[in-house]
Amino acid sequence: MADMRVHLGSDHAGVELRRVLAESIRADHELSSEIGPDRPEDSVDYPDVATLVCERVLADPGSFGVLVCGTGQGMAMTANKIAGIRAAVVLDGYSTRMAREHNDANVLCLGARVAGPGLANLLLSTFLAAEFAGGRHARRVAKIDAAGG
Ligand code: RB5
Repeated sequence: MADMRVHLGSDHAGVELRRVLAESIRADHELSSEIGPDRPEDSVDYPDVATLVCERVLADPGSFGVLVCGTGQGMAMTANKIAGIRAAVVLDGYSTRMAREHNDANVLCLGARVAGPGLANLLLSTFLAAEFAGGRHARRVAKIDAAGG
C-alpha cells in the first residue's frame, strides 16, 4: 500500500540503518516523524525512543512505527508494554507479512546488528505492503489488546 504514514526511531546502534530506512520511506510513503541521535557515538536509551515513537503512532491513527536498535528486541519489549501497540521483531519475510495480516502489528522492530540494509528494506516494504486480514483474526487481536488487564 502506498502513502503510509510512518514514525521512525532508533537508538545509537540503529542510526545508520535508520538513515537507510528513512530514505526508503520517503521514496514510497510519508516519513511523518523521525527520532534518534545523529551519530552512533551519541548513546541514548532505546526505551525512551520506543516510547516517543509509540506515542506518535497512537496519536496518528492508521500510521505505523518503525523502531531500530541493535537487535530490535529492547524496542519491541518496550513498545509492547504500551496499550494499543502491537510490535513485531522480524527477520524473515513470512513472519513480517503475517505480523500484519494476522496480528495487525502497528510497529515494526528491526535489529541493525542482525539485519543488513538490504534485508531490512525488504522487511520494511513487506510490512507496509501487507494488510490486516480481519475476520477471525480481529477476535484474536482484540484478545491481545485485552491481555494483562
Ligand atoms: C545498545 O547497545 C543495545 O543494547 C540496543 O541497541 C538494543 O539492541 C537493545 O535491545
